[in-house]
Amino acid sequence: MSRFEIDAKDAMGRVGSLELGGRTVTTPALMPVVNPHLHKPDLSEADIVITNSYIIYTGDSHDEAVKDGVRSVVGEGFDGVVVTDSGSYQMSVYGDDEVDVSNREILGFQRRIGTDIATPLDVPTPPDAARETAEGDVETTAERVREAVELYEGYGDAPALNAPVQGSTYDDLRERSAREAYTAGADVYPVGAVVPLMSDYRFGDLVDTVVAAKRGLGADAPVHLFGAGHPMVFALAVAVGCDLFDSAAYALYAEEGRYMTPEGTVQVDDLDELPCACSVCRGASGDKLGFEALAQHNLNVSFAEMRRVREAVRAGNLLELVETRCRAHPDLLDGLRRLGAHAETVERYDPASKSSFFYLGNPRRPEVVRHHQRLDRLELGDDTLVTAGRARGRDPLLLRPPFGPFPLELAETYPLNAETPEDPDDDAVDSALRGVERLVSLNPDATVTLEHPGWTHPRLDSLRDKGVRTEVYG
Ligand code: GUN
Ligand code: ZN
Repeated sequence: MSRFEIDAKDAMGRVGSLELGGRTVTTPALMPVVNPHLHKPDLSEADIVITNSYIIYTGDSHDEAVKDGVRSVVGEGFDGVVVTDSGSYQMSVYGDDEVDVSNREILGFQRRIGTDIATPLDVPTPPDAARETAEGDVETTAERVREAVELYEGYGDAPALNAPVQGSTYDDLRERSAREAYTAGADVYPVGAVVPLMSDYRFGDLVDTVVAAKRGLGADAPVHLFGAGHPMVFALAVAVGCDLFDSAAYALYAEEGRYMTPEGTVQVDDLDELPCACSVCRGASGDKLGFEALAQHNLNVSFAEMRRVREAVRAGNLLELVETRCRAHPDLLDGLRRLGAHAETVERYDPASKSSFFYLGNPRRPEVVRHHQRLDRLELGDDTLVTAGRARGRDPLLLRPPFGPFPLELAETYPLNAETPEDPDDDAVDSALRGVERLVSLNPDATVTLEHPGWTHPRLDSLRDKGVRTEVYG
């Protein structure tokens, strides 16, 4: 059995404690993928790892795992939490004719080797599959999850259970799959078959997929993003509510000479100097990093990014980190925009008060959405001045892009005390003028005058059409 407690929240992200069999993992956490038959990394920073029970079942370490437990085949002295995957991934890559194991059999084996979290034989459906295929796979996955719950209920020493969420790129199927998994009553909910979205840099679709899955899950459900191992996506994925990540990428990238950074990947041979403070990189040059050193750097930089993300959640500035990361690649920017498209959903999860707000160019933030929703609480006199300039006399409402109008007395309170650029960008002005529009439509009888410094935004024309007087101040 497991317990998941949430200790801090930001956007849809959280820092939590996942308790399993006397061990506690602080989330969001990175689980290095360990293949017991290949190179084993230094796991001293790992509280939790993931390995593949199908590979153990069919391989040389089978007997040792049964005799001494899965922890002994993961790595010498490793005493953290072990998650095991089933053969589903092999099945989806090589076809189910090649994977000669049943759901009950692989679940029984995972219990025998003493895993902490076991995974049933879900059916991963790749992105853009035919809808009927995706529907069928969601149903089979749900049956396998229910079979797992029933099977493990019969044992006092059963592991905790992963209930994978499938549904391909159909958001309604993702939500349905998540609801079925959550209703069955598992411990952790991995969002599956998203590796192709990440390897094709479809970060917008990745955001949609996770948000759809979250809709079908309770807020108390720990969510694992299956196969997400690049540090550049951690902040974004945590912001949409993922708690666990697994990385085989650190080793797979190293095999191709690829050096991970929180902003992306570079070919290590191209680097004269290494932009990283980890133990591998200090004093080394790119052409001297062999496979093991490169894999260890990739893991080190991934752990460091996860620490940074957790701190950002605790400090309430995760969305600033997401914006910084998502400006490193145009495809990540698509992810950021898609997060903005879900701003109303994000707003429902986001804590109402944090310590600071830095505006970095993305107006679709929960704080702004919330402020605009609350404009109906403002009472207007007959004759109202909204000014983007300095407050004075007449008791005006202030306009500070990206926020819509607010009274002077709120100017020093969160989030209206945000740090914003002196000279607002078009998106911020657009957002502020939307706020004025909403104010006007909520108060059809009021006369509103808007003072601005000479903006030339088309929304000013539509405000004038709605009867707002506009004045430019000097
Ligand atoms: N590893 C990466 N994706 C998946 C998935 O969808 N299911 C399982 N079981 N393992 C995975
Ligand atoms: Zn390094």
